[in-house]
Amino acid sequence: MTDTKLLERSHYNAQAAELNPGDTITVAGWVRKRRDLGGLVFVDLYDRTGILQVVFDPIRNPDLLDAASQLNRETVLTVRGTLSLRPAEAVNPGMITGNVELIAEKLTIHAVSKLPPIQMTGGPESNEELRLRYRYLDLRRTEMYRIIKTRHDTAQIVYTFYKDEGFIEVTTPQLLRSTPEGARDFIVPSRLHPGSCYALPQSPQMLKQILMVAGVDRYFQIVKCFRDEDSRADRQPEFTQIDVEMSFTSMETLFAIHERLIRKIFKEILGHDCLLPFRRMTWDTAIDRYGSDKPDLRFELEITDISDQVRGAGISFMDNVLETGGVIRMVRYPGGSKLSRKQIGDLEVIAKKRGAQGLVAVKVNENNLLTGGPLDKLLSLDKQKAIIHAADAVPGDLLCVVAGKRMVVAEALGDVRLEIGKRESLKRHTFEFLWVTEFPLLEFVPDENRFTAMHHPFTAPFQDDIHLLADDPGKCRAQAYDLVLNGVELGGGSVRIHQPEVQSQMFEVLGINPEKAQEQFGFFLEALSYGTPPHCGIAFGLDRLIMILVGTDNLRDVIAFPKTLQAVCQMTQAPSPMTQDQLDIVGLKFKS
Ligand code: AMO
Repeated sequence: MTDTKLLERSHYNAQAAELNPGDTITVAGWVRKRRDLGGLVFVDLYDRTGILQVVFDPIRNPDLLDAASQLNRETVLTVRGTLSLRPAEAVNPGMITGNVELIAEKLTIHAVSKLPPIQMTGGPESNEELRLRYRYLDLRRTEMYRIIKTRHDTAQIVYTFYKDEGFIEVTTPQLLRSTPEGARDFIVPSRLHPGSCYALPQSPQMLKQILMVAGVDRYFQIVKCFRDEDSRADRQPEFTQIDVEMSFTSMETLFAIHERLIRKIFKEILGHDCLLPFRRMTWDTAIDRYGSDKPDLRFELEITDISDQVRGAGISFMDNVLETGGVIRMVRYPGGSKLSRKQIGDLEVIAKKRGAQGLVAVKVNENNLLTGGPLDKLLSLDKQKAIIHAADAVPGDLLCVVAGKRMVVAEALGDVRLEIGKRESLKRHTFEFLWVTEFPLLEFVPDENRFTAMHHPFTAPFQDDIHLLADDPGKCRAQAYDLVLNGVELGGGSVRIHQPEVQSQMFEVLGINPEKAQEQFGFFLEALSYGTPPHCGIAFGLDRLIMILVGTDNLRDVIAFPKTLQAVCQMTQAPSPMTQDQLDIVGLKFKS
């Protein structure tokens, strides 16, 4: 009968699959579906482990029938009953509990639900904005619970792994000074110090280095980071890092430890065996061959340089590019000769978005010679053959050629390469891990006529390159590295500067004069001067890792309460306006 006392759950739904017919159990959850059939009422009861079919039988328990026939979607209830094997024709092999059903004997309805505004099961998913607004309903769906659970399981593996490797977790503050990771800070005005603000950490970079000065030796933390930058599919203003720092250790040891961590995670979560050690590639090679510092190695198609073959052939715009220090490169489109003008035009649009002047598309004809563009007319047959050979091209292929500055050509052809991979489904279903190494230390910002740190200002230059800091800073290589997986930057780190004088020199190159360095980083420089061990570290984007583990390309899917691309929380409508009183307390006045 309908009961008002709280029936205690004895089992989760999925456990019913392992019990015996005749067992009495109590389960609890939400009604996902109700069907009334010939006097019987069938309810799909959902909990976080899955669905169990509950049957209300008018002969065995007539007094439950009234209540059962009013069970609407998402009503929350507890039900006790006897497990029974389903009749053969009703067995559902697609469900873990598809062999059994629960014959209800006692029922407590805890609360009814308003009609859910999102699709809870089957059918196409509701639009994302709606799902985010009603995130509690969205998270109640099996698919979403699976993701949150994978995230939890991964975090547990991470904790155990680091503990076993002798790391300790240290919590660092969220109300901090600004940390220079290259994005804008989220700032928190201080009530006690009107006019001053805390900054939410873009990462605990300086603090973890200070923990090395403090002798912690091996630190890790699963930590929230905040960056006020434009959101993208793989970027959130608030995200989570697995953050690590270690002393007296080389980059090689750091790589080996983290290859073991990644192997453990992929084995335990996906049953996948990662091949160790991971591949490595220098930044220069990644840029020149794949047009990206995070190459997707699930397919080949390398970019090839054809500057030498084209030089002096009388193609004036290409000669101009070469004379001004540019390059001419191409990527092969397998079977691309059959593309329509429009499809080729779309490739050019992609290249132009990255700043290329244009894209020359040349076909490889049945005689293994070039057709189209200026190349076929002006290049000797030998040079045409050399180009075709360099690209490993065969008749029917299309060569996409871009001329311009090295980085522009790289980025343009890098994107064209990805587009070809996508259009032609070239990506293998594998996990292609790659360490990218030897990044440039600095990046020149022409608009501001100054250098910025490519990773962050605490990254050590190559020992052999330190003299370049004074002579030719743009050429200085950094002891920095990224771990890339299938074209996604999973993590990044570096060997750090541990001598205060090199750190000061670095600030100088970055245009931070000693007074400014003292003002912004005085505490840090001071800390470095008290016997800093050599140290290195890395941080992985936990959200990005989970994204790959669960097979989505949307970071929002793996965060319980994410922000939209406009940095809004749809559910709580943050950010929200403050009252004048609240602003007065912290001494803030907004410009109208
Ligand atoms: P970095 O800035 O490269 O390095 O960040 C490390 C990793 O964090 C992830 N990540 C993000 N994930 C989601 N949304 C974002 N907005 C976002 N920004 C970064 C990426 C990235 O590889 N302190 C250094 C690490 C170090 O040197 O030890 C740092 O934060 O996966």
